[in-house]
Amino acid sequence: MLEKLNEIEKKALEAMAQAKELQELNELKVKILGRKGEITLMLRGLKDLSPQERSEFGQAANQVKDRIEKLVAQRINEIKARDLNQRLEHERLDVTLPGLPINRGGKHPLTLINEEIRDIFLSMGFAVAEGPEIEKDYYNFEALNVPKDHPARDMQDSFYITDEVLLRTHTSPVQVRTMEAMCPHLPVKIIVPGKVYRKDDDATHSPMFQQVEGLLIDKNITFANLKGVLMLFAQKIFNEDVKVRYRPSFFPFTEPSVEMDISCVSCKGKGCRVCSHTGWLEILGAGMVHPRVLQYGGYDPEEVTGFAFGMGIERIAMLKYGINDLRLFFDNDKRFLQQF
Ligand code: PHE
Repeated sequence: MLEKLNEIEKKALEAMAQAKELQELNELKVKILGRKGEITLMLRGLKDLSPQERSEFGQAANQVKDRIEKLVAQRINEIKARDLNQRLEHERLDVTLPGLPINRGGKHPLTLINEEIRDIFLSMGFAVAEGPEIEKDYYNFEALNVPKDHPARDMQDSFYITDEVLLRTHTSPVQVRTMEAMCPHLPVKIIVPGKVYRKDDDATHSPMFQQVEGLLIDKNITFANLKGVLMLFAQKIFNEDVKVRYRPSFFPFTEPSVEMDISCVSCKGKGCRVCSHTGWLEILGAGMVHPRVLQYGGYDPEEVTGFAFGMGIERIAMLKYGINDLRLFFDNDKRFLQQF
């Protein structure tokens, strides 16, 4: 038996020395030392030997196992080192190759316009005020001089939550909210950016859109102040030589009321499809704050006057960037959004 053991060892060591790949080595190891390996099987035959022989052979077999295991480990290290050296010799890393581009997000065009409008009015000394999107009928209509059955409510067909609570249809309710909070402080000089909701939905109207409201109340504020502020705004948001004009209009909360047009940004006033061949584009509603609205806010219309305006910023963005469909703002198509 000892002879056979030596024979196995000799063959095994030879085969291991010659093995070139890790897989070969592992197979050899299993073949000799595994559960059904040659040495394992021999050790099973030990029970037939005398105690003396048993211990002699057992010792010898264990020594052989040790030697084989050591050699296997050594060979594995050698082969791994060889493979690594080969790779180091042949593989080259080209550090001058261009890297993979990292996609950076950007601001939505409406966010950009919003920020630009804020910056313009902040530079004129206006502060930013905000109010709730779920609003009381009182602030959205009553306190703006629009009583319950007034036909002006039809123009702003609304999402009601209860009889007294609705999604605000404009940012104007923040006028009286801010006056209440500030009275008797002067001036009240705010803009109000925010989302508003109306029950219509087509290529030029979406049920949610954004407005920026403006309100300036102080002693001796006149229509000339309104014109000055809005002219400067139009020049800054569009360009220096834009022209503006005012048409008489009606809002229950301003008196007199106007609509402001700018000369068409596309044809410069000559007339084209963008301006329906009129040369003008309507961009906002405005007027002198109605005395009753001042009273709702706590101010005395005999002592102070003010002007207010309101604009939809989707329309401003469409005109400024030359966008022809409102729905592009909400589709979230990266090909559109990446252009800004
Ligand atoms: N709130 C009006 C609208 O949504 C706009 C407006 C605001 C008009 C302030 C006059 C003064 O149409």
